[in-house]
Amino acid sequence: MLENADLSVIIPTYNEYDNILGLVEGIKGKLPNGLSTEIVIVDDNSPDGTGRLISSYLENQLAFNSLAAKASRDNGDYTIDDPKSTVKLVRRESKHGLISAILQGIKSSSGKYILVMDADFSHPPETVPLLVSELMRDPDCIVIASRYMTGGSIRGWPYRRKLLSRLAAKIAIHGLKLCNVRDPISGFFAFPRHIIENIRFDTYGYKLLLEILVKAKGVRVKEIPYTFTDRKAGKSKLDNRVVSDYVNSIWYLYRYGRQSKKELKQRTEKRKSVLFLSKAGRFYTVGATGLLLNFIVSTLLTRGAISNLWYIEASVVGIILSITSNFFLNKIWTFEDRKFSRGTLPQYGTFVGLSTVGAMIQLLLLYILVQSGFEYGISLLAAVAVASISNFLLNKKWTFHEKIWG
Ligand code: GDD
Ligand code: MN
Repeated sequence: MLENADLSVIIPTYNEYDNILGLVEGIKGKLPNGLSTEIVIVDDNSPDGTGRLISSYLENQLAFNSLAAKASRDNGDYTIDDPKSTVKLVRRESKHGLISAILQGIKSSSGKYILVMDADFSHPPETVPLLVSELMRDPDCIVIASRYMTGGSIRGWPYRRKLLSRLAAKIAIHGLKLCNVRDPISGFFAFPRHIIENIRFDTYGYKLLLEILVKAKGVRVKEIPYTFTDRKAGKSKLDNRVVSDYVNSIWYLYRYGRQSKKELKQRTEKRKSVLFLSKAGRFYTVGATGLLLNFIVSTLLTRGAISNLWYIEASVVGIILSITSNFFLNKIWTFEDRKFSRGTLPQYGTFVGLSTVGAMIQLLLLYILVQSGFEYGISLLAAVAVASISNFLLNKKWTFHEKIWG
């Protein structure tokens, strides 16, 4: 038994008595050298005895292996069945559907990489090494064996089923925006386990790949062509129920996609409003410190503590100092722009210019309000409020080159 295989091949079976052993042998013969592989068969208590058949195959294998081991010890001319590949059987009590069988198989497997395929030879064993080597070339992507690309095809299906499948693929591609995939409803694909580690699977029915494609966001997809050949032995389990499950899962995945897009938008919107408000808060705090600085400096300058300037002159000094300290505080703290270069001087110029524009807006508004009969105090408050908002927005955009919102 392999503790940790490199590759797990998951094969769900329901009534595949005539296929499964041939397939297992076929795959074993094609497995790439250098990768330890386990084949995990998930059988849903098939009435035709598929499960029992595999059990006895495994027992024989065991007996054969120990015989071979003994013989090779005795004679040295037997090779033991390749210990780099094993077969495992997962038995379930009853039929629970293809997706749940595959998921169960994945859970019971240990491979770093996972390959999913059918048991009825529709997915040719010859394509297995091609899928694997493509995956090894880019081990973070999903590799899909595709019927709907150059070189791919379908053999043996009646026209009606071909059309239905084509339609189902088209619906999935357009409805779920899987524009980079040509066969998103393939049942034959390989991927690294980590891709699905955080996915919660909710659909049922047949199309596991679709759910992976929708939920493993941003995963790279590669496709290789193959010819799907309709089963020779046994019967397809595709029925009306499968079709209606398909429609349901497309609808579910469509809503899922919309929902997660909405959530993402809400989250970034929320982040943007938080950013905007916190910057506005910092900007006003800086404004308040500027006012305080202005007040202290101009008082000191007029009261004779330092000098005895005319109050207008003192105010000009106060304004220049406070605008300058506002500039640096806003640059470093509010807008977190810590680049100082030759461009800083023109930036300072823009800040002074826009602050002047703000002051003009304030004066103009004050004048208009007082002239139209509002009380001076109220008018001043309103004018300061409007001017400081425009000050914030103008400087955000033009001095610090940020978007208004965010
Ligand atoms: N354990 C288990 N339980 N296996 C199941 C179940 C189930 O309920 N239903 C189907 N299987 C197994 C079958 O034994 C077979 O190995 C594989 O799943 C596919 O079943 P089929 O009945 O052969 O499906 P299909 O050939 O009609 O559909 C195929 O084509 C579709 C593309 O149009 C499958 O490959 C799909 O996966 C594929 O999407
Ligand atoms: Mn089939």
